[in-house]
Amino acid sequence: MAETIQPHGGVLINRVVDGAERERLLELAKGLVPLKVNSWTISDLDLIGVGAFSPLTGFLGKEDYESVVERMRLADGTVWSIPVTLAVEESVAEGLKLGEQAALIGEQDGIVYGILDVQSVYTADQRHEALKVFKTDDEAHPGVQKLFSRPSVYVGGPIQVLNRSKPEKFQQYYFDPSETRRLFVEKGWKSVVGFQTRNPVHRAHEYIQKSAMEIVDALFLNPLVGETKSDDISADVRMRSYLVLLENYYPRNRTFLGVFPAAMRYAGPREAIFHAMVRKNYGCTHFIVGRDHAGVGDYYGTYEAQEIFRNFTSEELGITPLFFEHSFFCTKCGNMASSKTCPHDKAEHLHLSGTKVRALLRGGQCPPPQFTRPEVAEVLIEGMREQFEPTNS
Ligand code: ADX
Repeated sequence: MAETIQPHGGVLINRVVDGAERERLLELAKGLVPLKVNSWTISDLDLIGVGAFSPLTGFLGKEDYESVVERMRLADGTVWSIPVTLAVEESVAEGLKLGEQAALIGEQDGIVYGILDVQSVYTADQRHEALKVFKTDDEAHPGVQKLFSRPSVYVGGPIQVLNRSKPEKFQQYYFDPSETRRLFVEKGWKSVVGFQTRNPVHRAHEYIQKSAMEIVDALFLNPLVGETKSDDISADVRMRSYLVLLENYYPRNRTFLGVFPAAMRYAGPREAIFHAMVRKNYGCTHFIVGRDHAGVGDYYGTYEAQEIFRNFTSEELGITPLFFEHSFFCTKCGNMASSKTCPHDKAEHLHLSGTKVRALLRGGQCPPPQFTRPEVAEVLIEGMREQFEPTNS
């Protein structure tokens, strides 16, 4: 098999167990301390299991956690910017013994998703974590809010996945890192640029994707479909918008759509590093970071998510970030541009806030085609109706 980019840490982790060993562990799990896990944790568990979070083999123990929070590295120095942790109620933690195992059980469905080797039980200073990871402890920040809603006792240790969470929709767009790596090789792509998004693809996204496509072999459109804040457009509607966009405006043989089933952290700069490392695990050689990547509100500077990459050498990152300026449609240029390529006054630039776009779509109106492709707008209008105007049935 031809060479692909090295996974982060050098080895693509695989902690998914099957066959007789899985049967044995499922039997064993019946006698273990049960830890209830929610859909966010199940998604983290699965992503660790399939190697999307390589080199993580489990939820962070105390030493790695502290190191990640303080210096964006695991204890061994490997770049890692987001704590991936398992929070449990204190009363539950009291029943755990180091060196033993616990069963990770879905709180909704009672499914045994995995087993954890309990190596570390510790109390986190969540305010400190918030200030380091999100750069704020403001509870209006959706990531901080989420963090503070979790118990502050964390349990760390390697995991094994015994059951995979099954997607209800768009199943054909779920690929494990081992699959995307193989597929990229089969397609003969030597360089692939990854694109993270939690939004419908507007013209600015399209512009930066296509600018990147001019210098690499292919685009991996990798929308995040895990948990997002409630006013983000649902993954279901977004997926329909990506499909119609790709069909109408992208070369089929140079684009690949696959979902990223992770939860959105809204950690801005730190999440940009995390997103890049994960896309490397999926086999991308390049990763797009535009304006206010993974940001929310005004918590982060427009280019902070680009600047943070300076803290690391290109060798330790292993994937090449492609930075893009804020892009817009310029009426004088008659095309998409950025301050790097357009000499005209701001008054010539078409700017629409997300709020304005949502208002238009909700009112059944298409945003200007310079902002959103009409085919995409149609899908979004329809989607808005479904998402925000519940039927009487
Ligand atoms: S994100 O939270 O997933 O980063 P979004 O889906 O809006 O949000 O952005 C996807 C990618 O496109 C990010 O890298 C972001 O920085 C970039 N981006 C979004 N809008 C623009 C824009 N107008 N100009 C340049 N880059 C942009």
